[in-house]
Amino acid sequence: MSAATLTARPRGPLKGRVRAPGDKSISHRALILGALAEGVTHIDGLLQSDDVLATAEAVAAFDAKVTRDDNDHWTVTGKGVFDQPIEIIDCGNSGTGVRLLMGAAAGFPISVQFTGDSSLQSRPMKRVLTPLGQMGARWEGKIEDRLPLTLTGGSLKAISYRLPVPSAQVKSAVLLAGVNADGVTEVIEPEATRDHTERMLTAFGAKLDITPEGQGRRIRLAGGQPLKGTHVRVPGDPSSAAFLIVAALITPGSEVTVEGVLLNPLRAGLFETLKEMGADLVVENAREESGEPVGDLTARFGPLKGVEVPPERAPSMIDEYPILAVAAAFASGGTAMRGIGEMRVKESDRIALMATGLKACGVEVAEEPEAMIVTGTGVAPQGGGVVTTHGDHRIAMAHLVLGMAAREAVTVDEPGMIATSFPTFQSLMKTLGAQIEEG
Ligand code: S3P
Repeated sequence: MSAATLTARPRGPLKGRVRAPGDKSISHRALILGALAEGVTHIDGLLQSDDVLATAEAVAAFDAKVTRDDNDHWTVTGKGVFDQPIEIIDCGNSGTGVRLLMGAAAGFPISVQFTGDSSLQSRPMKRVLTPLGQMGARWEGKIEDRLPLTLTGGSLKAISYRLPVPSAQVKSAVLLAGVNADGVTEVIEPEATRDHTERMLTAFGAKLDITPEGQGRRIRLAGGQPLKGTHVRVPGDPSSAAFLIVAALITPGSEVTVEGVLLNPLRAGLFETLKEMGADLVVENAREESGEPVGDLTARFGPLKGVEVPPERAPSMIDEYPILAVAAAFASGGTAMRGIGEMRVKESDRIALMATGLKACGVEVAEEPEAMIVTGTGVAPQGGGVVTTHGDHRIAMAHLVLGMAAREAVTVDEPGMIATSFPTFQSLMKTLGAQIEEG
């Protein structure tokens, strides 16, 4: 059984080289595309977190064959078709898992019951159900667009869809449905969002036509193209590396290198922002792996200053605002994070929870409907808070990092949820010298 609480205490500097766990977004996609493709897909570096394991179970329920060997090498053998599952597809805590799987499943004449944990049951699904409905899928749920719901697919018609919110999950759901739709599916995103689905569809042999459109892109995909199994090497997750990097930047005397971090520009907004704050953050050994840019990131402790984060950067760092808010608490002056309304519909209302948690640790925070402004004094904040995470992994990890460098320890509840994205968080932090205790 997992601990009821975790407490992080200030200790000495963090030092060492570690490898970030596999990227969550790419791991979900590797499993789903592997199942949609014909033949064997080999996956190395898959993130073995609760969210991703739920997706692995789901694709097996659609009758793809999924194996994992002793060296954590995974294979998915797909038939190019999703069969009618017997069981309910339970995506646990994962918005990415359920939304992408709904898109993929909609392409087949099957009726699928989807559900998730209480956090996922409270999150909006209309954003994917609307375009899938326009393509011809039907759905039925007890409470509006919330899980649990049953989705019935098959005989889809391609659509042209302009994303009303900048969401890679919605874009991906439409594109995955488009793989098995009649005609050319088009997605127009007014702001560019993470493009792993497009890159991976290409790696699986599909042809996409991608053209710039304003600040965003127009993506076209002809339905009926066969996907062929391939080899995916999953790079390190920048959203997890972020906790290691910020911990080093705010803990006096620290120097930490995180190897093999995905540096796709549509995911690297936090690193850009930290540099603008004056962070000593260096990329070495920049290279390409499986069609994605990666590098080794070294972070050293030093003074940070508050900045205004450009709102148009939000899609490239949407999951990183909780940990940015922690870095901002150690900076001199205000850090304004605007245009981040999407944070309120993540695993929790992350603006509200970060504001409450930081205030409990003596940090000055102003909260607005779509913004958060954190003002630091340039010295370590008091800490000492006991933080309610509402089962949100990133809220938990952000506050534990705060506790490593604040003047007093910080405690978080429901730490078991950290395993949804970063099961090795505690052990990697301890390797680097952090003090984290179970309660
Ligand atoms: C993800 C997209 C983002 C992000 C999530 C992963 C993805 O969500 O917050 O953690 O893998 O496509 P939205 O697309 O809803 O912004």
